[in-house]
Amino acid sequence: MAKAFDRIPRRALARARLGALVAAALAPAVAMAQLAPDAAQAKAAETERQMTDDERFSMLVSLIGEVPSIGVPRDPRIPAEVDNMSAGYTPGIPRLGIPAFQSSDASMGVTNPGYRPDDKGATAFPALILAGSTFNPELSRLGGAAIGREARSRGFNIQLAGGINLQREVRNGRNYEYYSEDPWVSAVMASAAVGGIQGEGVISTLKHYTLNANETNRHWLDAIVDPAGHRESDLLAFQIAIEKSQPGSIMCGYNKINGDYACGNDLLLNKLLKDTWGYKGYVMSDWGATPAWDYALKGLDQESGIQLDVQQWGAEAFTDKLRKAYADGGFPKERLSDMVRRMLYAAYSVGIDKWGAAPEVDLAKHNAIALDMARQGIVLLKNDGVLPLAAGRKLKIAVIGGHAQEGIIAGTGSGAVKPVGGYAGVVKIGGAGIMGAGRNMHLFAPSPLAELEKAFPDATIDFDPGYTPAEAALTARRADIVVAFGIRVEGEGFDNVDLSLPWGQDAVIDAVAGANPNTIVVLETGNPASMPWRNKVKAILQAWYPGQAGARAIAEILAGKVNPSGRLPITFPESLEQTPRPELAGLGTPWGTPTTIRYDEGAEVGYRWYAQKDLKPMYPFGHGLGYTSFAYRGLKVEGGNTVTATFTVTNTGKRAGADVPQQYLVGAPDGKRMRLLGFERVELKPGESRKVTLTADPRLLAKFDAEANQWRIAGGSYRLALGKSAGDLQLSDAATLTGRLFGK
Ligand code: GLC
Repeated sequence: MAKAFDRIPRRALARARLGALVAAALAPAVAMAQLAPDAAQAKAAETERQMTDDERFSMLVSLIGEVPSIGVPRDPRIPAEVDNMSAGYTPGIPRLGIPAFQSSDASMGVTNPGYRPDDKGATAFPALILAGSTFNPELSRLGGAAIGREARSRGFNIQLAGGINLQREVRNGRNYEYYSEDPWVSAVMASAAVGGIQGEGVISTLKHYTLNANETNRHWLDAIVDPAGHRESDLLAFQIAIEKSQPGSIMCGYNKINGDYACGNDLLLNKLLKDTWGYKGYVMSDWGATPAWDYALKGLDQESGIQLDVQQWGAEAFTDKLRKAYADGGFPKERLSDMVRRMLYAAYSVGIDKWGAAPEVDLAKHNAIALDMARQGIVLLKNDGVLPLAAGRKLKIAVIGGHAQEGIIAGTGSGAVKPVGGYAGVVKIGGAGIMGAGRNMHLFAPSPLAELEKAFPDATIDFDPGYTPAEAALTARRADIVVAFGIRVEGEGFDNVDLSLPWGQDAVIDAVAGANPNTIVVLETGNPASMPWRNKVKAILQAWYPGQAGARAIAEILAGKVNPSGRLPITFPESLEQTPRPELAGLGTPWGTPTTIRYDEGAEVGYRWYAQKDLKPMYPFGHGLGYTSFAYRGLKVEGGNTVTATFTVTNTGKRAGADVPQQYLVGAPDGKRMRLLGFERVELKPGESRKVTLTADPRLLAKFDAEANQWRIAGGSYRLALGKSAGDLQLSDAATLTGRLFGK
C-alpha cells in the first residue's frame, strides 16, 4: 500500500481534494448523470487507458478509518484533510475526474462506531429482518433512498448495504441484518433498497457473497452445500437481486464455500458471477477477508480495510505482494485493467463522479419512513382477544423488563447505527474476537414506557425492571394488563447458543403470566425465540429491532391506532430439534477454531424444510395477525413458460388493514417441494376487494440441473396454493407446464 499511495504526490492529492470540494459546491444542483451500462463500460475503458500503473494499483485497496476499540490507529496513508472517515477510503485520481471512493456501513443506516466523533447521529432504521416482515418493497426503496441521502450528505459514495444472506440458521447473530429465509423475498426487498440507495448517486453493495449463514469462527468456517441446492437458494437470491438492481459492487464474505474462501473462489466469482451472470461491477472483499494476492486472479477486484488483513493474515495482499506478482508476470496487465474498469463502471453507472450539490436531508421525513417500517414490520404472533387495548379506558398497566423505561434495543456489529441524538443508554456485554468490543446493548430513545404513557393517557402505568421473577410478579398482580418485554441483543461475530431469552427473562415472563393471565409479551430480538411461557400469555408481539421510531410503533399497535400487518420472513421452530442442525458445529470452540458446517438442507431452507419433513413449527413463515380479517377467493392458475395466478382478496373485517397473500408451489412432477412463488401486500378498507395477479420467476418452479448447468422445468402438473402463511393454505389450483431447460 505504501508504494501505491506514495507514488501519487501528496500535493496532487491536496489539489484534487480542494478541487473536488470547490466543484461539488459550485456544480449546478442537477441530478447526477448515471450512465447506461454500455456507456459506462466505454467510459471506464477510456479512462483506464489513460491511467498509470501506480494509479491503477492505488484503486485496488481501501483503508478503514481509525477504530481504537479494535486496535486500528489512523493510517498515515489517509490524507490528514479527510475528516469524514468510515469503513473504507480509496484515493481518487483527480486529473481523470475520479473521486475518492469512500464507503460507509450499512443496510440500516449510516454507521459511526467512532470514526466521526462530531457526527450527530443518523436515522437508525429498523433491522432488515423487520423490513423483510413488511413484505413491502416500496418501503424498502424509500428507506434505501433515505440512507443514500444521509450517506451522500457525509461524502460517502458507497454504502455497504444489501445484506441478502438467507436466514437458514436461526442461531445466526447477523440474521437481523438480512431480510428472510426465502430467496424471492430477500431478492425483492434487497433490490428495492439497493435501487433506493443508488438512485441517490451512491453505489450500494449486495453482501455477503455467499453462504455467510453463521458467525461461529467465520474467518475459519467452511460452509458445505450441494452446488445445485446453493443455486436454488442463496445464489438465486443474489442472482435475482443483481438482475433487479445492478448493485455497483458485490461484497464477498469471510467464509469458505465447499473448501475455497469466498473472496478467492474462482468458481463463484469468475465463472458464475462474472462469466455466467455477466456481472459488470466490482467485487470488494469483506474487511480482513483477503489472505493472498492471487485472489486477484480468482475474481476479487478490491481488497477492503487492508489494515484488518494485516491483523488477520499478517500482511496486505493487493499492495506490495500484488505489485511483485505484477513485476514477475504472475498478475497480468489485462486483469489489472479489468479490476480498475469494473470499479470505474460502478462509478459511472451510479454517477458518483457527477454529484451535484449535496442533497437535502430531512431527518423528520426519514424518521417517518422508519416509523412506517416499524408499524408495518412488527408481527402480531398471538392474540387471544386481548389486543387492541382500549386507549381511553382507566387501565392499570404493568410494564415489565426489557429496559423498557430506557429505550428500544438494536443489533450489534458493523451494521449498528447511532441514532439521531445518540444512544439513550449503552450497557456493555463483550465477548470473544474482534467484534466483542462492540457487543453492547444500545438503547434508542424514546422508550416504550414513555410511548405507552402517551398512548394511554388515562391509564395508571407501573414500571417494573423485571429484575427478579418474584418482584415482577408482585407488580403484575396489581395490574389489569401486563406488558412484559423480552429482549435479546444479537449481532455480528456471535451465534446464539439456543433460542432462549438471556438474563433470566423467561423466568420473569413466566412469573408475571402466572400472576396475571392478561399478559402481553413484546419481543425485541433478531431471531426466533423459544417462548416456554407461550401458552400462559394472551398475546405476543414480535418487534424485532424496530429502530429509533420503534417504541412509538409498539405503543400504537397495542393501543389499536395501527393495525399490525407484519408477516414472519423466517420460520419460528418449536425447538432446535426441528431445524436441520440441532447441534451447530464449532459452537463454543475458541474463536479461530477451523470449523466446517454442513448445510445439507441445500435449497430446502426454512419453510421449505418444514414442508419437506412434514413438521409443524411454532409459527410458520408468512404468519402474522391483525385487527381485521381477510378472505381469498377465485384462485385461477395458468401455465405456459411459467405460472400465473389470479385471485381476489377481500377485507371481511370492520377496520382497514393490510394483508400479504402468498402464492406457493406445493406440488411438482419432479419431486416434493414447497417454494414461495410470489406475494403482494394489499391495503384494503372494510368490505373492499382487490384482484391480484402474480407471475412466478420460472427459476422458482425449476430445479437446477448441475449436469446441464441450466434450470430444468419438468413437464407435467404444478400445483399451487394460496396462503396466509406457509402453514395456512387457503385455496389451490394446478397448471400443466411443458418441460424445458433454460437460463443460467
Ligand atoms: C464487517 C462486515 C461487513 C461490513 C464490513 C465493513 O466485518 O462483515 O458487513 O460491511 O466489515 O465494516
